[in-house]
Amino acid sequence: MSYRVALNFEDGATRIIDCKDGERVLDAAYRNKINLPMDCSDGVCGTCKCRCEEGEYELGDEYIEDALTEDEAAEGLVLTCQMLISSDCVISVPAPSSACKIKAQEYEAELKTVDLVSDSTIVLTLDLAGKGELDFLPGQYVNLNVPGTTETRAYSFSSRPRSDSVSFLIRNVPDGLMSRWLTDEAKPGVKMRFVGPNGSFFLRKVERPVILLAGGTGLAPMLSMLEVLTRSECNHPVHLIYGVNHDGDLAELERIKTLAANIPGFTWDCVVADENSHNPLRGYVTHHLDDARLNGGDCDIYLCGPPPMVEAVRVFLKRKNVEPRHFYYEKFAASEAV
Ligand SMILES: Cc1cc2nc3c(=O)[nH]c(=O)nc-3n(C[C@H](O)[C@H](O)[C@H](O)COP(=O)(O)OP(=O)(O)OC[C@H]3O[C@@H](n4cnc5c(N)ncnc54)[C@H](O)[C@@H]3O)c2cc1C
Ligand code: FES
Repeated sequence: MSYRVALNFEDGATRIIDCKDGERVLDAAYRNKINLPMDCSDGVCGTCKCRCEEGEYELGDEYIEDALTEDEAAEGLVLTCQMLISSDCVISVPAPSSACKIKAQEYEAELKTVDLVSDSTIVLTLDLAGKGELDFLPGQYVNLNVPGTTETRAYSFSSRPRSDSVSFLIRNVPDGLMSRWLTDEAKPGVKMRFVGPNGSFFLRKVERPVILLAGGTGLAPMLSMLEVLTRSECNHPVHLIYGVNHDGDLAELERIKTLAANIPGFTWDCVVADENSHNPLRGYVTHHLDDARLNGGDCDIYLCGPPPMVEAVRVFLKRKNVEPRHFYYEKFAASEAV
């Protein structure tokens, strides 16, 4: 029996390794050619201290208080040279991936389909063409090379992890380098390269009501998270508010409906900013985020979209004096124009 451990480094790079039953995480990482920070490997120095974000584990009984205090243990800190896991885990490593001798993981995939699914949204699907399944945490992104150039663009997975094809929801930016390539030149079978997975914006264990706020193609990571929720037990309400500028920007509504049919407790609204919209809900996502949903702050919020939208939500919560238990966000910042 073995478990899946996602090691999430300080620079946002992630590696997912297997850890055998009874194997120490530090040893499993080493077997997977990752040198996690360590010194004594005996539970004495505390150098291997990391944070376990998710998963079941025992701390081990051979470490000393100087290496890990009771308070630290209560906060979720662990010693990777001692801990024994009993489920899949996500572990945050307080060091950059380069310090752990990890090279960026590169993939080459074949373009399967490219579809304009709304006035402003492209769905790109890549096939890993027999290279196995790609694993990542739902919500993470990759840096995708624009074919024929040395430029890359960041895109979040909209598909579920551990599949032999991956999808992205891409805003069709007028005159954008990647956008132009996708609309004018992309053809099935073309090879595309990407590096990843990256990022600390990913779905954690659902332990209280969850609110997902998506602006435009900021819907992509939410779709990936929801795909994962269709396969896991989720005993708390999950509510998505998806906002766009114009009716013609709305994308993937059928897919959201299918997800809603498959996730108990999942509800969603879409809202359009344009005042001439025919959509039942108009305005911004914050206009439809009511106090009942915020649950007095006892909720986890995931927010993703263009930087002004992310800022607007942050200001909204501050003004309302609501401090969610956890607040994770990703800004879809534009790349530097070339
Ligand atoms: C971590 C991360 C994850 C991301 N994930 C996604 C994703 O899943 N889907 C997605 O669509 N985007 C995502 N983005 C944003 C995406 O990387 C950029 O929007 C992308 O650079 C656009 O590429 P392009 O080559 O088509 O346009 P570019 O050639 O990069 O841009 C052309 C011009 O348009 C401007 N521009 C670029 N993007 C935007 C924008 N969004 N709004 C307004 N003006 C813009 C640029 O400043 C430039 O002047 C992500 C960004 C980050 C940082
Ligand atoms: S390496 Fe020293 S406590 Fe783990």
